[in-house]
Amino acid sequence: MTEPQSLHARRLFGRRKGWKLRPHQAGLLDTMLPELALVLREGGDPKSYFTAPIDDVWLEIGFGAGEHLAWQADQNPRVGILGAEPFEAGMAKLLSKLALAPTGNVRLYTEDARDILTALPDASLGRIFILFPDPWPKTRHHKRRFIQTEMLDELARVLRPGAELRFATDHASYLEYALERLMAHTSFAWTAQRAEEWKTRPSDWPPTRYEGKAIEVGRPCAYFIFRRV
Ligand SMILES: C[S@@+](CC[C@H](N)C(=O)[O-])C[C@H]1O[C@@H](n2cnc3c(N)ncnc32)[C@H](O)[C@@H]1O
Repeated sequence: MTEPQSLHARRLFGRRKGWKLRPHQAGLLDTMLPELALVLREGGDPKSYFTAPIDDVWLEIGFGAGEHLAWQADQNPRVGILGAEPFEAGMAKLLSKLALAPTGNVRLYTEDARDILTALPDASLGRIFILFPDPWPKTRHHKRRFIQTEMLDELARVLRPGAELRFATDHASYLEYALERLMAHTSFAWTAQRAEEWKTRPSDWPPTRYEGKAIEVGRPCAYFIFRRV
């Protein structure tokens, strides 16, 4: 069995450690995380990562404190949800939520989501969520933004035709940057028919911590659903 994360010396931008964890959260990282940890197999069918019967697999990249992931897992018990979040405190927060409301359909990865993408076979996911990714506002850091044309090629590879890429941001420059690339990409079609559709969060898309912070300071948020053509 190969472990793709050991094969790629990628540079992860952003922090892994923050404030000191409370003993309960630290304990969950030691006891609960190993049970839910995603151990990648190069080319492995993602359905095989779950023991419960599932019909589809979705991936959330950078789930933060996991509000959205926990909600989707609870609402969609027949969907296996893969989540990647290298920020330890975020992972601990999601584990706290799952400890209170366990679901059998979550696998968690504490490293770079790009490892998961590399390991996935073609056309193996039904949805990818990238919600409020780090904006990297300085021009010289734009290359660090998760959404790049090459990344869209990779997302298109692992999504089935008809699958969804969901993306949200509160950052005007990232919005423009991502839309430019998404609109130019022949594998993605924007589903919105009217402006209200991307200015309003859909009902099957719960709020996240970062969205809450943006709304608090009056920054408008944009919500995009692109379909894999
Ligand atoms: C601004 S936060 C948003 C968190 C959450 N989605 C929300 O809306 O509250 C972006 C998150 O993406 C994570 N992240 C950044 N690069 C990543 C990568 N390559 N793979 C997985 N997660 C990543 C960061 O650790 C951070 O927690």
